[in-house]
Amino acid sequence: MKKLFYLPMAVLGVLFFTQFMSCEREPVYIGDLLIIPIDTMPIDTTTIHPCDPDTVYFERDVLPILISNCTMSGCHDVASHEEGVILVDYAYTRNTGGVKLNNPSDSKLYKVLSESGDELMPPPPASSLTAAQKALILKWIQQGAQNLSCDECNTDNVTFAGIIGPLVQTKCAGCHGNNNPGGGVKLLSYNEIKTTADDGRFWGSVNHQASYQAMPPNGTKLPDCDLEQILIWINAGAPNN
Ligand code: HEC
Repeated sequence: MKKLFYLPMAVLGVLFFTQFMSCEREPVYIGDLLIIPIDTMPIDTTTIHPCDPDTVYFERDVLPILISNCTMSGCHDVASHEEGVILVDYAYTRNTGGVKLNNPSDSKLYKVLSESGDELMPPPPASSLTAAQKALILKWIQQGAQNLSCDECNTDNVTFAGIIGPLVQTKCAGCHGNNNPGGGVKLLSYNEIKTTADDGRFWGSVNHQASYQAMPPNGTKLPDCDLEQILIWINAGAPNN
C-alpha cells in the first residue's frame, strides 16, 4: 500500500523539480547585446483594475513616451540598440534602461533627459521631453518601475481636444513632428491629423491594415481603448471639438 503511495509522490516530485528548473531563465544574446531577464509580475487580465490617479502605469503612461521619442530606427529599437539600450517594451526597458530602484534619479533612463551636450536624450534637433514627461518617468521608477496596468476607457465623450489630440501628441508626434516626420506625415495640428483621418491612413495604420504602414512601428498596436476612441472620433466625422 505504501509503495503505491510513494510512487506517485516521487513522480510528482520529479515533475515539480524539472518544472522548477526549466523556469530558471537564462540571459540571452540579441546580436552582441546581453539581455538579463528580469522577473516581471504577470499581468492579471481576468479582473478589472480601476485606474488609480496616483499610480504610473507603464504601458499606458510611460511606454508611449518612449516609443514616440526614443525608438526610431537608428536609436533604441531592437535592431539599432544604441549603447545597448532598447526601449520598445517593458522587459527591454527594465533590462537595458539603467533603471536604479535604490536611487531613481540616478537612473540612466531619467538622467539623460536633462544632460547637456552629447549626452542629452533625445539628441537635438529632436525636442527634449517636457517637464511633465520627465517627472512621470521618475515617478514610475520611484514607484518601483513596475508593469502595472489598469482598465478604464472613456468612450462617452471622445473629443479632439480632450482625447484624440493628447493621444496623438503623446504617441505619434515624436516621430511625426516638424523634424524629419515619418513618411513625410506631420501630425501636429488638427488639420494635419484630420487629413489622415479623412483619407483613411490614420485608421488604416493604427489598425495595422494591409497596404498601410503599421503604426506605431515596432509591432505593438495601440491599446484597445485608444483604438476604440479613435474609431468613435473618425466615425463622428473627425470633428474639431
Ligand atoms: C517611432 C516612430 C513613429 C511613431 C511613434 C509613429 N510613427 Fe507613423 N510613421 C513613422 C515612419 C518612419 C513612417 C514612414 C513609414 C514608411 O514609409 O516606411 C510613418 C508613417 C505613418 C503614416 C503613413 C502610413 C501610410 O501607409 O501611408 C501614418 C498615417 C502614420 N505614420 C501615423 C501614425 C500615427 C497615427 C501614430 C501614432 C499612433 C504614429 N504614426 C506613430 C514613424 C512613427
